[in-house]
Amino acid sequence: MRQAGRYMPEYRAVRERLGFLELCRSPDAAAEVTVTAAERLGVDAAIIFADILLVLEPMGVGLEFSRGDGPVIRRPVRTGADVDRLAEVDVHALDFVCEAVRRARAALPADLPLIGFAGAPFTLASYLVEGGGSRTYARTKKLMLGDPGAWRALMERLARTVAAYLNAQIEAGAAAVQLFDSWVGCLAPADYRVHVLPHVRALVAALRPGTPVIHFGTGTAGLLEAMRAAGGEVIGVDWRIDLDAAWARLGHDVAVQGNLDPAALLAPIPEIRARAAAILGQAAGRPGHVFNLGHGILPETPVDHVRALVDTVHELSAR
Ligand code: CP3
Repeated sequence: MRQAGRYMPEYRAVRERLGFLELCRSPDAAAEVTVTAAERLGVDAAIIFADILLVLEPMGVGLEFSRGDGPVIRRPVRTGADVDRLAEVDVHALDFVCEAVRRARAALPADLPLIGFAGAPFTLASYLVEGGGSRTYARTKKLMLGDPGAWRALMERLARTVAAYLNAQIEAGAAAVQLFDSWVGCLAPADYRVHVLPHVRALVAALRPGTPVIHFGTGTAGLLEAMRAAGGEVIGVDWRIDLDAAWARLGHDVAVQGNLDPAALLAPIPEIRARAAAILGQAAGRPGHVFNLGHGILPETPVDHVRALVDTVHELSAR
């Protein structure tokens, strides 16, 4: 997760020349950083370089990435009238992502899968409503609980748009797609079931059959059963829950992805190896475990530590 990013010198070199959105909009450069990261790390799949917020730009909300402050939405969505004013997204506005998928696919080894991705409706709605990141999601919850009709309209709009966008990535060559509901763990389970689950279910049902969906969130220990009910062939979990406990609750008939704490990569390599071994021990050789971090690689992570993690996982899971 965040395979290509600021921790990697090759990525920083490309970012010297291009702003973040410029890089996302340049299919050649986006494909290049995707492929370079996969090669440098020796991982078993690449993830296309893009961002979950790109889909919000054609809605006309004024997306910006300012250096250091993270993403900003200049014209946030706070009311039903704001929801009605959102422009309907023509997915062709995101053709540059599909072009990057095609170019990365062509440049990667034939047996290395390429993963497409998008933000899930709740996490996207949280950026639209808050105008950026948040600690409490107070405005998002205020809209959800105070104007359920406007919330539903917003979530339906996002689910429809994201489904079309993911289908376009699949069409372009993505072998699997990951749905990032990164911040959904802030919700009470009852609110998730009423205000989120039906929209994720509709989104997943609208995807082209036959392409695995990885359904990921953080802080989701209270939501696992509901997330599974919403959909996905693979449920992604972070490190705040033990992998074996999460998998037992989800049921062993669904696959799981996770769940090393990205901060563990700051530890000395023997400690990284021990942590990886512990997670593989919890997976206990069952089919359907995708080893991954529980969230994105931190910018201060040494690249050789990531490489050592990949090598350890390969070594310990070889049959
Ligand atoms: O994993 C990969 O290599 C694919 C690329 C990828 C990026 N963003 C690139 C990126 C993916 C999968 C994402 C998803 C994403 N983007 C999420 C969901 C995953 C998660 O982290 O929970 C979210 C919430 C975003 C929104 C976003 N984009 C934020 C909050 C930020 C700022 C974070 C920061 O540390 O500055 C970004 C910027 C961003 N997206 C960067 C990268 C490599 C850093 C940008 C830079 O300065 O070069």
